Amino acid sequence: MEAVAISTNKLSKIYNLGKKNEVHAVSDLVLNIRKGEIYGLLGENGAGKTTTVRLLTTMIKASSGSAKIFGYDIETQSDIVRKFLGCLPQDAGLYEEFSAIENLKFIAKLRGIDSAEIPSQIESLIQLVGLEERQKDRVETYSGGMKRRLMIARAMLGDPQILFLDEPTAGIDVLVSRRVREIIKTLAKEKNITVLLCTHDMISAERLSDRVGILHKGVLVAEDTPASIINKHATENGDLEDAVVNIIGWKGDKDEEDVL
Ligand SMILES: Nc1ncnc2c1ncn2[C@@H]1O[C@H](COP(=O)(O)OP(=O)(O)OP(=O)(O)O)[C@@H](O)[C@H]1O
Ligand SMILES: [Mg+2]
Repeated sequence: MEAVAISTNKLSKIYNLGKKNEVHAVSDLVLNIRKGEIYGLLGENGAGKTTTVRLLTTMIKASSGSAKIFGYDIETQSDIVRKFLGCLPQDAGLYEEFSAIENLKFIAKLRGIDSAEIPSQIESLIQLVGLEERQKDRVETYSGGMKRRLMIARAMLGDPQILFLDEPTAGIDVLVSRRVREIIKTLAKEKNITVLLCTHDMISAERLSDRVGILHKGVLVAEDTPASIINKHATENGDLEDAVVNIIGWKGDKDEEDVL
């Protein structure tokens, strides 16, 4: 049997508990993601994707429930858990005044990577994301797509076994998007890295994911292979976007429907 990389047991996060602005961001989430799997986590703005990433990467504490990374509890064994993880966060930027190499060196040192290994790791990551020619230029002179690629390289420092990618293809052109997809696929299929991919990019989700999970208002409302989700939920000749719209539409509030 394939090893389980990520498992959650009724994982929940409530922000501002007991206050007027209480939000049930993630509710009773049950996930079982196997080693080497690419799992696409989809859902509307505010569905709970980033919160799920923050919980699983030990950035925030769960309100209830639990989760394990390769069998280690994210709360009581967080030091061990963190060693398995790499993350491209949705909102954390790069040091704009540093070059690609300087950004990677700085983070590698912060992560406590053996200094003898840092130059060769950085060299191979720069190559992986195709930034060789610009590696010494300041990041502020990069295009958006180059920055995304550098963020993937940054997430890969320290050879993580599980990669959390929160919107890796947001705001980038089709060519870079394709390149990023190729990088993700290579990591998962050749290095057996597990990828949790949060995205609104349905093409990437459909082409990359072994399975997708659809969150709606913090609840996992569907989970299957992209083909099965499309088969079950899309209208005739529809795609994943169509299926997701249908799923979220069904679950949506009455007054949110048919607004167009
Ligand atoms: N620090 C916080 N404090 C209070 N509420 C929060 C906080 N972070 C997120 N939320 C709320 O939790 C819910 C889930 O947000 P989250 O960022 O997880 O959604 P998301 O699925 O990643 O959305 P997007 O597609 O826009 O990135 C939203 O209602 C959001 O407003
Ligand atoms: Mg998000």
